[in-house]
Amino acid sequence: MSEQQKIVFIGAGNMAEALVKGLCNAGVPSHSIATTDPRAERLEYFKTTYGVGASSDNAEAATGADTIVLAVKPQHISEVLASLRGVAPDALYVSIAAGIPTARIEKELSGRPRVVRVMPNTPALVGAGVSALCAGAHATTADLERAESLLRAVGATVRVTESQMDAVTAVSGSGPAYVFRVMEAMEQAGVELGLSSEVTRELVLQTFLGASKLAVESGRAPQLLREQVTSKGGTTEAALKVLNERDLVGVFSEALSAAARRARELANGA
Ligand SMILES: NC(=O)c1ccc[n+]([C@@H]2O[C@H](COP(=O)([O-])OP(=O)(O)OC[C@H]3O[C@@H](n4cnc5c(N)ncnc54)[C@H](OP(=O)(O)O)[C@@H]3O)[C@@H](O)[C@H]2O)c1
Repeated sequence: MSEQQKIVFIGAGNMAEALVKGLCNAGVPSHSIATTDPRAERLEYFKTTYGVGASSDNAEAATGADTIVLAVKPQHISEVLASLRGVAPDALYVSIAAGIPTARIEKELSGRPRVVRVMPNTPALVGAGVSALCAGAHATTADLERAESLLRAVGATVRVTESQMDAVTAVSGSGPAYVFRVMEAMEQAGVELGLSSEVTRELVLQTFLGASKLAVESGRAPQLLREQVTSKGGTTEAALKVLNERDLVGVFSEALSAAARRARELANGA
């Protein structure tokens, strides 16, 4: 992010904190960042922890902003957009509100606001998130780049079309929970094999961390990495045979379809 940019976070919650922390760590000066929230103690926390501006007045904080990050829960988006209508017509709006289409944000802000919609995920809290971005009707390529540089403070970014956002929600938005579920299952299985729960947890956590690091850093496809550790007649092959017989791929396909369907329903207010 350029140093002169004024970035305002509407909603000083968990995701806003992850982003503010990431931006400060990346060297963005704290005086160019401001947050808003209805809760005084949250504002005080942001002020003392990160040295950023803090206000309970959305319109006042957003005046003169270059980038306005909409970081409230979807159920609060309409009141937030109403509070911002006409306030900063030239700002770029970056919305992380799950399931809220850019067209709705554009309509409720009125005019021709430049909107970029983002689906981040919770590993952003430790700087290891992945965010998918798409542009609204009036956002430019430069706007997408600006939003990307903001989100890169908390992890990787990819670009998608807005119609792909439900699939993104199913893969990476809800994805960390699937990983945690598999971790739980492996923990339970390890204990059943006679290991202590402490030892099993350490083995499981480091195995996930190490396997992810290996996949990312080697640039090799997971299939190739799996084949490399699966020797004929060996232990890994025995385990994978069970997973395949229980149709692991089919289970994930059904699970992700259910998540994408639910994301569509939620976007339609169900
Ligand atoms: N956490 C995730 O894993 C994740 C992943 C992807 C996307 N998202 C999306 O990111 C958004 C933020 O999530 P979060 O976990 O950071 O939520 P959060 O912790 O609840 O933060 C939202 C903050 O906005 C405040 N707020 C409510 N109404 C407001 C208003 N009118 N003006 C200004 N601030 C207002 C809330 O205050 P009160 O508590 O007083 O209401 C709260 O402090 C959500 O839309 C979520 O769907 C989250």
